[in-house]
Amino acid sequence: MASLTIRKLDDAIRDALRLRAARSGRSVEDEVRVILREAAHDGASAAPMAAPQASAPGRLPPTRADDGLARVTLVIGGGIAAYKSLDLIRRLKERHIDVRCVLTKAAQHFVTPLAASALSHERVYTDLFDPDSEFDAGHIRLARDSDLIVVAPATADLMAKIAHGTADDLASAILLAADVPILLAPAMNPLMWNNAATKRNVATLQRDGIAMIGPNAGEMAEAGEAGVGRMAEPLEIASAAERLLRPPQPRPLAGKRMLITAGPTHEPIDPVRYIANRSSGKQGFAIAAAAHAAGADVTLISGPVELDDPLGVTVKHVESARDMLRQVEATLPVDIAIFAAAVADWRVASEGEQKLKKTAAGMPPLQLVENPDILATISHRKDGRPPLVIGFAAETEHLIENAKTKIARKGCDWIVANDVSPATGVMGGDRNTVHLLTRHGENIEVDSWPVMTKEEVAVELIAHVAKTVSPSS
Ligand SMILES: Cc1cc2nc3c(=O)[nH]c(=O)nc-3n(C[C@H](O)[C@H](O)[C@H](O)COP(=O)(O)O)c2cc1C
Repeated sequence: MASLTIRKLDDAIRDALRLRAARSGRSVEDEVRVILREAAHDGASAAPMAAPQASAPGRLPPTRADDGLARVTLVIGGGIAAYKSLDLIRRLKERHIDVRCVLTKAAQHFVTPLAASALSHERVYTDLFDPDSEFDAGHIRLARDSDLIVVAPATADLMAKIAHGTADDLASAILLAADVPILLAPAMNPLMWNNAATKRNVATLQRDGIAMIGPNAGEMAEAGEAGVGRMAEPLEIASAAERLLRPPQPRPLAGKRMLITAGPTHEPIDPVRYIANRSSGKQGFAIAAAAHAAGADVTLISGPVELDDPLGVTVKHVESARDMLRQVEATLPVDIAIFAAAVADWRVASEGEQKLKKTAAGMPPLQLVENPDILATISHRKDGRPPLVIGFAAETEHLIENAKTKIARKGCDWIVANDVSPATGVMGGDRNTVHLLTRHGENIEVDSWPVMTKEEVAVELIAHVAKTVSPSS
């Protein structure tokens, strides 16, 4: 078999490959394997013996390999909770999951195929003997061309059919032919749920490795009835589906403590005015989220921003540069510190205790003094210096030169340099073009990345950090 040296690829391809690998949590080599496998698969399906023409009326839409999205076949059973499955379609699509719906005959008494197809943006399937979709045994393809089958609501009847291997309609035939995981969201009256036959079926389904979410306890649609039998909420089902579709990512930074700063600082002039800058905090917040996803124990120290705190991250909100330094020092020791905040270089020498007034004497003099340099202070610490200190250099000219000078002057290990001149739209925007400067003794290596979203920059940066601090990951 031919071998391929990734380092010899052209820069743009190598960058795109590394980014794709970082996003999917695979090594670059594994990502290449996936691409080759997909290419081989595409080649096979393009062969003359392959499926009918794209224009054939019942041809199924492309599979995951074509559009890169996970695909769920959602079987909607004939229960009162079917209306919630319309919301489930939306919740799955929010998670970038393609949804294709199959409605049982009974389900169509509760929701219409039109509503399901309008929400899923796909044709809806209802009939096992539909000549349009069965010219190539469509029920088998519906079973196989998805990554997961979700049954919601899973009626007592559908569960009995799956447990016994019945295949007398489209939904049950698909479920019998499936070679992908199945997730059931049972919904039925508590008497049906507690019936000995249903209990036997549930036990059989569990033995057969079929996953289940719910049912929950609560009020029933039937007046005055309550108990276990309510379908799990669409959000719960979507999260369970996501867990089955995307098994846990590797956590290369598990056990590592990380400190990240983000956002601007506000330097008070008087009780109502302050000096600020245009930093939105988006880049630092994205790094905190990526570090948390990689398993790190993350503390984010943020200046005033309009962003929600990232889940799973300890967030300390501060105002001024001096507050930020205090919180940074209180958070040490850490294994990795990333200083992405745009800290004000200066503050007003003496902050007015009352709101400054216009006077006949003209403007009050604003004397500025230098703020503490948080990056340099932490990088030069004798005690408790984090083993890896990363700064950000926001420059409007001579980007690389200024960043190289900064790395030496500040004493940090890496600098992420970005051009923040107004034309780039980086300050406050969603995209960033960065250069990663890494110090190796006297040498500084510069790695220039293509334009990416701030989330992509974060994932790529954390992948580099993980490779450096946990090389085996
Ligand atoms: C108003 C109404 C509500 C129903 N709700 C449920 C239900 O929540 N769960 C259930 O298992 N069956 C329920 N059924 C019974 C099913 O619709 C019936 O068993 C049907 O055959 C199920 O078909 P399917 O499993 O092919 O969708 C309900 C029936 C009616 C008329």
